[in-house]
Amino acid sequence: MAARRMILAIDQGTTSSRAILFDDHLHPVSNAQQEFAQHFPASGWVEHEPEDLWESTLAVCRQALAKAQVSAAEVAAIGITNQRETTLVWDRRTGEAIHRAIVWQDRRTSERCAALEAQGHGDLVAARTGLRLDPYFSGSKIAWILDNVPGARERADRGELAFGTVDSFLLWRLTGGRVHATDATNASRTMLFDIHKGCWDADLLTLLDIPASLLPEVRDCATLFGESEPELFGGAIPIRGIAGDQQAATVGQACFSPGMLKSTYGTGCFALLNTGSKAVASKNRLLTTIAYQLGGERCYALEGSIFIAGAAVQWLRDGLGIIERASQSGQLAANADPGQHVYLVPAFTGLGAPHWDANARGAMFGLTRNTGPREFARAALDSVCFQTLDLLEAMRADWPEAEGAGTVLRVDGGMVASDWTMQRLADILAASVDRPEVLETTALGAAYLAGLDAGLLPEPAQFGDRWRLERRFSPELAETARRSAVAGWRDAVRRTLSAS
Ligand code: G3P
Repeated sequence: MAARRMILAIDQGTTSSRAILFDDHLHPVSNAQQEFAQHFPASGWVEHEPEDLWESTLAVCRQALAKAQVSAAEVAAIGITNQRETTLVWDRRTGEAIHRAIVWQDRRTSERCAALEAQGHGDLVAARTGLRLDPYFSGSKIAWILDNVPGARERADRGELAFGTVDSFLLWRLTGGRVHATDATNASRTMLFDIHKGCWDADLLTLLDIPASLLPEVRDCATLFGESEPELFGGAIPIRGIAGDQQAATVGQACFSPGMLKSTYGTGCFALLNTGSKAVASKNRLLTTIAYQLGGERCYALEGSIFIAGAAVQWLRDGLGIIERASQSGQLAANADPGQHVYLVPAFTGLGAPHWDANARGAMFGLTRNTGPREFARAALDSVCFQTLDLLEAMRADWPEAEGAGTVLRVDGGMVASDWTMQRLADILAASVDRPEVLETTALGAAYLAGLDAGLLPEPAQFGDRWRLERRFSPELAETARRSAVAGWRDAVRRTLSAS
């Protein structure tokens, strides 16, 4: 029989499902990707068809195996990473979801969350979960499904229904309904999980009127979750790793020591700062979250999320039509007039951390008769850098140790291919920006967790030694010029916030 040396990483994201097959040195061997439909049934609502999530995941796994001509018998483990917070409720008997998945971006429960906040429950939520009382997280989405799908509450009370984030739903389907579990990182995004005690919180379940019978068992990130049904891939494969996508990227970037920081630039941007065994409560509107849980030990992170990063470049391309390909934005920005001070505040869907202003809308400042596509491109890329600075400053204020460590930011995601943007990021942050050789850090993190549990890969410290720098961008901008640019950004944000 062939040796089991391969690791199959599933990355079920917001717009596409991907599968990457890695060898036991974590070199990618093959990959496949499939996009699926986004549903917007009402303003601010975002849904996914559960069968799309499942079918696309299954298809890309099969394609990745077929491309590399690898059989199930050669795969040591599956690792799952996923869009976080997205909420599914399904029938335990049939495995059928009772409603479409409500996506993390969905704001339908804004009023419910605002009402709970007004009643003073925000402090309880923050103290137990490290999160804000916000529709972003799963809790209020579960309650919405129970309240709005006819008969759901009665079925839930009878123990007939199961809730899960996407990892949990895929695990259920992969194991033919034998396993209802999740990992600590995904649990930490539900707004129902006590991140300090590592268990579901009875008070929050009561607050949102959610029966505990719906909930999955919470496990470590690297452990045996179950085995895939043999007929899916022509043989059973153990599922040995699960983590939410931003946490998996933190692992893939080998940010295992307190003070290490990564930032992933996709449509939005998510920065996570490892704070070790200490869950640091934010006074600056960041989130406290579980970075990973291994051997029953939880490692925590401060997280800052901004909604528009790569989406600002998409806007240049699709909204304004001033570039044909995203990759042209850096070159255009590099040729912008240095004498013009144009700022874009990309609050297209409100502003995320640290402002959390859902009602703000985008604005541009400093336009003159000479402003053209180059200055628009520079303002768009600058906005990503300035927003990252806002997150880092909030992190430094929350956890002064981060300053002492001398901040180095490890970056990944589509936008980091632009040298101009990465240099600008280092200049604006006045910190080093490290771009790794392997940019597929999310899938890599999931593969590492699965491979660790399979005994193919070393403990985190040794895995960290394998992380390879492709290029370091060091700050070059004079401090006076940096301060003046940042002051211009701060002024632009102040004028954009909805309260002003
Ligand atoms: O919190 C949401 C995040 O996990 C989504 O990530 O990469 O699917 O947009 P992505």
